[in-house]
Amino acid sequence: MTPMAPHLRVVRREDAAAKPQAQARAETPVLTVRGLAKAHAGRPVLRDASLDVAPGEVVVLGGPSGAGKTTLFRCIARLTEPDAGSVVLAGRQVTGARGRALRAARREIGLVFQQFNLIRRASALGNVLAGRIGFVPAWRVWLRRFPAADIALARGCLARVGLEAESGQRADTLSGGQQQRVAIARALAQETRLILADEPVASLDPDNAAAILELLRALAKERGIAVLCSLHQPTLAARFADRLLRLEQGRVLAAP
Ligand SMILES: Nc1ncnc2c1ncn2[C@@H]1O[C@H](COP(=O)(O)OP(=O)(O)OP(=O)(O)O)[C@@H](O)[C@H]1O
Ligand SMILES: [Mg+2]
Repeated sequence: MTPMAPHLRVVRREDAAAKPQAQARAETPVLTVRGLAKAHAGRPVLRDASLDVAPGEVVVLGGPSGAGKTTLFRCIARLTEPDAGSVVLAGRQVTGARGRALRAARREIGLVFQQFNLIRRASALGNVLAGRIGFVPAWRVWLRRFPAADIALARGCLARVGLEAESGQRADTLSGGQQQRVAIARALAQETRLILADEPVASLDPDNAAAILELLRALAKERGIAVLCSLHQPTLAARFADRLLRLEQGRVLAAP
């Protein structure tokens, strides 16, 4: 395995591997969502959505198309403003946070979405460095003069997802699976406590899909990152999740 950059918060692999899942769930959650409500155009989508995710836990959220999974993820990251309810991340209120506090909370959330959301014309490394934007002074970002330590960290993250050789390649020339790996590396560079993965493998073939989910799972266990992931494929969900949830009629239920 590639040596990990010193900046990354690391849960020792053997500790994480040895920890029974039941115990992981009993830990203080990294993410606590309570009573989230959101209506779109007067129609309630989320009514009273609540869930917890523990450090290192992989929770998969299912539910019919249009149930509100994307809306829930967007509300957790405050990309969409919820109408009611609370989101607490690593002990910090995300709901209600403004300015610096909101930026700090967002920095703790890595977003991995179906469409990869990369800067198409930037290199793989440039995209991963985007994960460091919240950590370095604005003038450095503007001049693209990232400190050497941040560049080393970003390179380490790319290596961890198996893309060391592609670091200089433009994002829009990478394969779908590679692009999703870059998005994951960007989340790692952010030293995120939580990864929200909304249909992360919907655009990938079955082999790539399984590999990406395995990578997310390995990172959760290795670094103690909480992963909340929506997936349409029940077989993959069952294989990949520590716990399965379902969003139905605006509420989160334990999946049968
Ligand atoms: N910006 C918006 N404006 C109006 N309605 C919206 C908006 N975003 C989502 N909706 C509606 O909210 C509902 C939930 O959508 P959402 O995308 O959250 O569902 P989903 O569970 O992610 O579905 P899928 O599994 O197909 O991705 C849908 O009826 C959708 O049309
Ligand atoms: Mg969706």
